[in-house]
Amino acid sequence: MRVMTNGVLHAPGARSALEHKRPWVQTVATYEHELAELRRTEGALREVLACEDALLHQKNELIQLLEILSKESDHRFLNGLQMIASLLSMQARTASNPETASQLTVAANRVIMIGAIHRRLHCLDGTQTVAFGRYLEELCRDFSTMLGAEDGSDPIISVDAVEAELPSATSIPLGFIVSELITNAIKYGKGQIKVRLEANTGKGYALSVSNDGPNLPSGFDPAKSKGAGMTIVRSLVAKIGGKLTFGPGDQGQGACFTVMFS
Ligand SMILES: Nc1ncnc2c1ncn2[C@@H]1O[C@H](COP(=O)(O)OP(=O)(O)O)[C@@H](O)[C@H]1O
Ligand SMILES: [Mg+2]
Repeated sequence: MRVMTNGVLHAPGARSALEHKRPWVQTVATYEHELAELRRTEGALREVLACEDALLHQKNELIQLLEILSKESDHRFLNGLQMIASLLSMQARTASNPETASQLTVAANRVIMIGAIHRRLHCLDGTQTVAFGRYLEELCRDFSTMLGAEDGSDPIISVDAVEAELPSATSIPLGFIVSELITNAIKYGKGQIKVRLEANTGKGYALSVSNDGPNLPSGFDPAKSKGAGMTIVRSLVAKIGGKLTFGPGDQGQGACFTVMFS
């Protein structure tokens, strides 16, 4: 390595002689060398930073694109459900057999409920959890409107729910369960339907649907029920690792189904 002092290049041997005489020459040379190194590092860092900036920009663009695509796919999914429900209702109206017509109407209503359950979840997009108390209130308001419009009467569903932040993966099955239990309460019960979400200290939550009117048939066992509703409820309760209990409703009237889960 050669060192430049006052515009003169010195061979390494010569440099040590010079440095011996004037030690500051070595210090300046070291500083210059370090400065050059630092400039090189700064240049490299600026390049990396520019690259990171470009990547961040690309990432933001991709996130925006994904959001648009996700909204579009939700929209298509809900439109698809709407179309299936309309087709089923149309078939129900044209069916010559009343039993077939009624089954088709039940199927159409289930599809409409699936739409409602998902629509409400998508309002709370972007999160892994759902404010379940509020979700339940909105869902039941939708059901009241839908079911009231369906058979001309005005089913009254009251909701009394604690606020609970639940994972979406639990909220969706619970939405279906409530939907099936409300459908049965309307079909077999009378008066007001009460939906409650209570916190069981240390043991998770209890979600119940109760109605007035006749009690459950004697010897009723959901496990032995042939109906599709109870089969759906039981399988979804198992899916979330919950427990289903049932019995009479308030003041021994009607029926009450409770799902315990944590
Ligand atoms: N809220 C309720 N009140 C009285 N009986 C009920 C109630 N919910 C369910 N059941 C009984 O449970 C049975 C099974 O219900 P489900 O599987 O939903 O079938 P479906 O509604 O098609 O009859 C019903 O036929 C009814 O006897
Ligand atoms: Mg049913």
